[in-house]
Amino acid sequence: MAKLRAGLIGCGGIANAHARSALATGRMDLVAFCDVEKSRADQFNADYAGGSGKAFVSFDDMFDAVKLDMVYICLPPFAHTNEVEVAADHGVHILIEKPIAINMETANRMVAAVERTGIKAQVGFLSRFGDAASKLRWMIQGGKAGAPGLFIGWFMCNSLHSPWWRDKSKSGGQIVEQIVHTFDLTRYFLGEPVSVSCYHNNVFHADVENFTSEDVSATSILFQNGAVATVAGTDGAIPGQWINAYKVITQGITADFQDANNATLHFTSQPWEKQTSIRSNKDLFLAETVDLLDAIEGDREPMVPIIEGARTLELVLAASRSGEIGAPVKIG
Ligand SMILES: NC(=O)c1ccc[n+]([C@@H]2O[C@H](COP(=O)([O-])OP(=O)(O)OC[C@H]3O[C@@H](n4cnc5c(N)ncnc54)[C@H](O)[C@@H]3O)[C@@H](O)[C@H]2O)c1
Repeated sequence: MAKLRAGLIGCGGIANAHARSALATGRMDLVAFCDVEKSRADQFNADYAGGSGKAFVSFDDMFDAVKLDMVYICLPPFAHTNEVEVAADHGVHILIEKPIAINMETANRMVAAVERTGIKAQVGFLSRFGDAASKLRWMIQGGKAGAPGLFIGWFMCNSLHSPWWRDKSKSGGQIVEQIVHTFDLTRYFLGEPVSVSCYHNNVFHADVENFTSEDVSATSILFQNGAVATVAGTDGAIPGQWINAYKVITQGITADFQDANNATLHFTSQPWEKQTSIRSNKDLFLAETVDLLDAIEGDREPMVPIIEGARTLELVLAASRSGEIGAPVKIG
């Protein structure tokens, strides 16, 4: 099969990881780069296309000028506008970073455009691709793990991040921008949420200029099936470490995740004690791109279709809102 022609919107930090994965597949060429700062698009063109691609400051111009098969959307949360709709109208498949937006109106327009045009759109919830996470999900789905009942997760880092990240009106705050990974896993394992209750605050960075994101949060979630989750997060923990760890308790398994690739599963419904360890160093960025390419080739849904990005966004927006109003928020 001929190599696909891929573009990139938002040539910043995470776009590098996707560009490297794109080339590592050997199944696509990067041919167009878009960034509001032209020099960044030019640099990506030099780094990932040997200068043979094209650089743009407007994605409208990019889609009009270059025939693309797929596009990576790596924009900061506040910068999402109608790029998914324009890509979809050009028949271009999408890999979009999380969170897909910072309001449901934009997210719902994205979902509608993908459904209307039939393009494939994968959301960058890379933890879902982890070997340990996907194994437990497979066991839950197949009835091998018993009913899921409890998720306990925490996301901890300590970074000043970029100016847009610190500004809650642009990033949505730490829950929406970052802990969204952990919240997404609650849905992956436990199903659909019905209610969320959250406390959050800016404890460590109140004196840092323009740092309006929360940096501590504690959230409880109730799910349709009666399961419950707690998710704690902070941007005040150990510098240089980005910890996204969790435990999932089902009727038959207590799963202790160090990360999405690595977990110890304790089998708890046996009369004897039994456990197994899953250890992997699978490249999750590569995995989400390969899955999208397979979905395009096989004309099937990608593993994390855009509707999942919208549903998890609804959950984190509800958590953030709950913390603001000091009361539980219903979902759905
Ligand atoms: N999956 C992960 O683990 C992971 C990790 C880091 C970031 N992310 C997500 O990726 C997204 C981007 O984060 P980042 O760290 O790369 O940000 P960044 O600030 O490093 O890069 C964003 C780029 O987008 C450009 N940009 C802004 N508005 C634009 C517009 N309208 N059109 C074109 N370009 C525009 C900026 O100039 C910048 O080059 C965020 O949503 C973030 O949450 C995901």
